Amino acid sequence: MYDFTPAPGASKPDIYAALLEAVEAVTAGETDAIANMANAAALLGEFLPDCNWTGFYRLIDGELVLGPFAGRPACIRIPVGVGVCGAAAKGETQLVEDVHSFPGHIACDARSRSELVVPVMRDGAVVAVIDLDSPSLARFDEEDRAGIEALAGLLSSRI
Ligand code: SME
Repeated sequence: MYDFTPAPGASKPDIYAALLEAVEAVTAGETDAIANMANAAALLGEFLPDCNWTGFYRLIDGELVLGPFAGRPACIRIPVGVGVCGAAAKGETQLVEDVHSFPGHIACDARSRSELVVPVMRDGAVVAVIDLDSPSLARFDEEDRAGIEALAGLLSSRI
């Protein structure tokens, strides 16, 4: 039984420090990638306020395929280079303040207004992306980028 909750009113750096500690605790010693992504997706949904979707797409045979997530059912396959996730699959974090102004944005959930997508790299190659969606404009900033990039580094060898 795991019961991780961020302190009420915690700053973003404190939330991410607690999130990384929780993900470290639940993934340490587990080698199954799906189990680790599932717990990480659930923790992202628990720790990050104002998000309507938190989860993973895996890069398989040159295409993104839906992985574990917390949120509504989502698009299953996304070609590399298409939408926000497809752009991140090329290896660069995508921080989008207004998804409606992002060319080719894929609206899986009509509530989403801003998005942060971070690639997970292993041995120099993208193996997955972490995708966060929010119903608020400009929900994500550089502190979120730093926190999720640190999470991607932690998960690199665990998914
Ligand atoms: N909006 C994403 C698609 C994935 S969903 O947000 C879960 C995109 O444009 O790539």
